[in-house]
Amino acid sequence: MTVNRLNPSVTSEVLEELLARDRKALLGEMIQGVLHNINGPLQNIFMATELLKDQLLHHKKFLSSSGLADNKLLEDVEKQLARLGHIQEGAYNLSNLTQNLIQGMQIQGGEVKTDLNVAIRKLVEFFQNNLFFKHRIKVILDLDEKLPRVNVPISDFWQSAAHIVKNAIEAMENVDSDRILTIKTSYDHGNVIVSFRDTGIGIPKEVKDKIFNLYYTTKKSHSTDNGDTSETLGLGLYCAKHLMSKHGIDISVESGNGWTEFSLIIPLHEYDS
Ligand SMILES: Nc1ncnc2c1ncn2[C@@H]1O[C@H](COP(=O)(O)OP(=O)(O)O)[C@@H](O)[C@H]1O
Ligand SMILES: [Mg+2]
Repeated sequence: MTVNRLNPSVTSEVLEELLARDRKALLGEMIQGVLHNINGPLQNIFMATELLKDQLLHHKKFLSSSGLADNKLLEDVEKQLARLGHIQEGAYNLSNLTQNLIQGMQIQGGEVKTDLNVAIRKLVEFFQNNLFFKHRIKVILDLDEKLPRVNVPISDFWQSAAHIVKNAIEAMENVDSDRILTIKTSYDHGNVIVSFRDTGIGIPKEVKDKIFNLYYTTKKSHSTDNGDTSETLGLGLYCAKHLMSKHGIDISVESGNGWTEFSLIIPLHEYDS
């Protein structure tokens, strides 16, 4: 199905297709850089290091019991063992990361009573190794540990929140001062509120009214690593808004010079905690 970019007619069919395409593109993009065929080799590294450690330990035992080695040699062997331990730990951490990414891909709708704090921690982990690290953004989590669970599928929350976080990262990309993303959860007057505040370029007043429009963007289209031009510009907030409104959730935005804050306001009255 094609969508006329100048005059998009947004039937529910088109919308569903857009959301599905957007989800695929979003996950694909994030995963591309990190996950690319690393799970197999990582497991090999982990196993091979285990074998090496085992063998080295054997050698060490033999050397020390036979009296063939001096202390210097034994110390060296000890150092190699420690190094192998580091390699193994790295492989283990990376393997965990890939598993998180795979989980992110597999998250499907339908799950209710979502613990948003857990979802947010996972989301941050998801971005941490790629974007936060790459763009030197500090993340502050200010999570209400008594937050009631909400009746929102984690996949929908994830998709919307990922767009907001991605925008925040992009807004801070070229900022020289501190780059800080603060994600806060709270419960107030029957609403669960999740806010994402960045120290980015801010949203000018004349832009603010348009940011949720389909295909509205202030960004230049760019080529991906594959040489494809990005087809998803101007989709993020549109999709986020629609996904959230399905669940009666409003997205509000406030911005000033050098900061922007998006908030999801999730009414809790129909839901159990
Ligand atoms: N955190 C933010 N800081 C500054 N501008 C933002 C932020 N989030 C969104 N915007 C503005 O809203 C526009 C629309 O966002 P979005 O729908 O995600 O599309 P895209 O990111 O592809 O441009 C962006 O082009 C940008 O101008
Ligand atoms: Mg975006």
